Amino acid sequence: MESLSSQEFPGAGRPPEEGQPAAGSRCWVVARQLLAAVLLLGLSLGSPVLLVYLLRSCGPGACDSPACRALLARALASRNASASAAPCADFFSFACGEARGSRDPFQALAEENKRRLRGILETLGSQQPGSGEEQAFRFYSSCMDTDAIEAAGAGPLRQVIEELGGWRISGNWTSLDFNRTLRLLMSQYDHFPFFKAYLGPHPTPPHEPVIQIDQPEFDVPFKQEQEQKIYAQNMREYLAYLNRLGTLLGGDPDEVQEHASMSISIASQLVQFLRPLAQRRAQGKPFQVVTIDQLQPLCPSSKELAPAIDWLSCLQATFTPMSLSSSQLVVVHDLDFLKHMSRLVEDQLQNHRDFLQSHMIFSLVGTLSPALDSQFQKARRELSGKLRELTEQPPLPAHQQWLKCVEETGTFFEPTLEPLFVREVFSPGTRSAAMELFTAIKDALVARLRRLPWMDEETRKKAQDRVTQLQVKMGPPEQAPEPALVGQEYNDIHLGPSFLQSFLSGVRARRARIARGFLQPFPRHRWQVSPWGLSAHYSVSDHVLVFPAGLLQPPFFHPGYPRAVNFGAAGSIMARELLHIFSQLLLPGGCPACDTHALQEALLCLEGHYAAFPPPGRAPFNGSHTFLEDAADVGALAIALQAYNKRLLWRRGEATLPNLDLSPQQLFFLSYAQVMCRELSTQESRDTHSPPILRVHGPLSSTPAFARHFHCPHGTLLNPSRHCQLW
Ligand SMILES: *[C@@H]1O[C@H](CO)[C@@H](O)[C@H](O)[C@H]1NC(C)=O
Ligand SMILES: *[C@@H]1O[C@H](CO)[C@@H](O)[C@H](O)[C@H]1NC(C)=O
Ligand SMILES: *[C@@H]1O[C@H](CO)[C@@H](O)[C@H](O)[C@H]1NC(C)=O
Ligand SMILES: *[C@@H]1O[C@H](CO)[C@@H](O)[C@H](O)[C@H]1NC(C)=O
Repeated sequence: MESLSSQEFPGAGRPPEEGQPAAGSRCWVVARQLLAAVLLLGLSLGSPVLLVYLLRSCGPGACDSPACRALLARALASRNASASAAPCADFFSFACGEARGSRDPFQALAEENKRRLRGILETLGSQQPGSGEEQAFRFYSSCMDTDAIEAAGAGPLRQVIEELGGWRISGNWTSLDFNRTLRLLMSQYDHFPFFKAYLGPHPTPPHEPVIQIDQPEFDVPFKQEQEQKIYAQNMREYLAYLNRLGTLLGGDPDEVQEHASMSISIASQLVQFLRPLAQRRAQGKPFQVVTIDQLQPLCPSSKELAPAIDWLSCLQATFTPMSLSSSQLVVVHDLDFLKHMSRLVEDQLQNHRDFLQSHMIFSLVGTLSPALDSQFQKARRELSGKLRELTEQPPLPAHQQWLKCVEETGTFFEPTLEPLFVREVFSPGTRSAAMELFTAIKDALVARLRRLPWMDEETRKKAQDRVTQLQVKMGPPEQAPEPALVGQEYNDIHLGPSFLQSFLSGVRARRARIARGFLQPFPRHRWQVSPWGLSAHYSVSDHVLVFPAGLLQPPFFHPGYPRAVNFGAAGSIMARELLHIFSQLLLPGGCPACDTHALQEALLCLEGHYAAFPPPGRAPFNGSHTFLEDAADVGALAIALQAYNKRLLWRRGEATLPNLDLSPQQLFFLSYAQVMCRELSTQESRDTHSPPILRVHGPLSSTPAFARHFHCPHGTLLNPSRHCQLW
């Protein structure tokens, strides 16, 4: 299925209809008028009886707004229309049967949001020269101008390589000044070949922002646990790719081959030094706080940790305008890795200086390839396709230039584009409806915390306080940034002459913007949530939960939808985010004061519950990586349902969707499940979530109300005899 075009969502392009769902079927209007008449005339004996009768007979109304019609079309297209599709035996197939060949609804919505952003970008051409809007438009246009990018070819990249001191493979080269090249890579190209450095909240309270140094990211999965055969094939593909890059840059094939092999050797040695987080946790050292001085002592006699690198000058250049000194504290996530890495670098510098230089440049070319001509992009895409094939992952969707350009323009010009996007998709009515939904979910969680058998009184009180004190941001911050400020944001972006130069200028400006943001007291910079993205974000340091405008959209949320849909889809998403805040209570030793026996029992119950399902897909599935997400899934459904039921007590006459023949509660469960619709095989091996079918069946079968509303006989898959309550 192609992604949803705005055609399918007639309400999508303009502000959604405000107000409550169309629950007020004609019947309710009559009831209300009658009530008014009764109050006017004073109570007479007959009318209250009539009123009660009338209220009782008010059935659910059907929502017929454009938003509901679009949702209905979606629901009908997704669910299995076969008469024999049995909700009690396989609700996943019932809800998602026909949608399986398609991408998941999150991906489809993400693309839909980018389509809207594209629409906005394409209208910005007539803006005042020099304004943020005009610059964003020019950047987007030069990204879309593939003829110019092709004509420039590898020229702009060769220039970059010369700026870095060149390499032995092609062109002029000078012997490596290691610290200079590394500093340039980090500060000018946002590229970190040996480690990663970024700004983030300190891992312990009060979570002040701090520079963090972590393991690097690699171009290809150099996984140690991989099967030997797959590993060898991966490396062959990667070598072929590096060879291709080298020849595209005019290198002699034999020389390229030698340097490419050495680059792979350096990367795979680095990978050997990595220790997974779980192992570092088990050793009680998930991170360490050191001064820059300790990493790289000024006097050589003291104990040095990672002396190969000129940390102060590299970090200072990267995080300008912050001002760093050698006593600056930094958080290091894997100190042993840094020590080994430093030794490897020193060793290479002594014996294979020019190979180290080539390695740094090879990996840079990889990260820059989205801004290069079609030959580089094609090489990258083919590599990624082959690697996915080897690990039996489905191919990525076809390359679309506009999508890539919208993403890049969005990243660099976010301060300008955010208010434009929000104005289009997130009206004040949508915001307040989303806020109302969140409040209902939050209240249900607070009520639920009271009933958890494994939680002790003090932990309960603390958890409840944390929920009540939590701040939530729906969509963008309320105060729009000053228009003058938005213009200033881009004084440092220089467009042209080549697209690569514009791109790099955008990279540098964004990096400086983030560093400047960290120097300001206003904490918005810590909520790094893309407004058109779909990831909610919890900021530990500020105790703020942020939901981006892009997430609270059809088909998950619309102020005009029946409440069952909003609670089932967006409500369960919100509840899951809330529960994640408390996940660490479930980890071993996470809640020493709790009744550990009862907690252990509930965890084992959940594990047994999930293990009882037939294993999905071909690969054997190991549930021990997913129990935290499973717990959040089960808890989120229970909380969303509790919140919805409470709403039902207060308001009757729930709206549904026409032609689906589902009661409001049934619609709630269908909406919950359809959030999860996706191909069974799209499970990534490192995914901490269960496969989609389990994310539907696990929580639904833990919820007795599901079996009741779908009339599932005892003993069917979705009505087991045992239920667990963790949350
Ligand atoms: C629809 O349900 C029927 C009956 O359970 C099943 O045989 C069929 O495979 C389902 N179709 C899809 C596309 O899942
Ligand atoms: C090498 O450098 C010289 C002088 O800086 C320059 O004129 C020449 O074009 C460069 N050669 C290549 C292949 O880039
Ligand atoms: C890089 O700088 C550090 C610190 O000044 C120094 O110890 C190291 O030797 C330098 N590396 C090279 C290769 O020059
Ligand atoms: C699942 O993974 C865990 C941790 O990696 C391991 O201890 C356990 O033995 C595995 N279970 C199965 C059935 O493979």
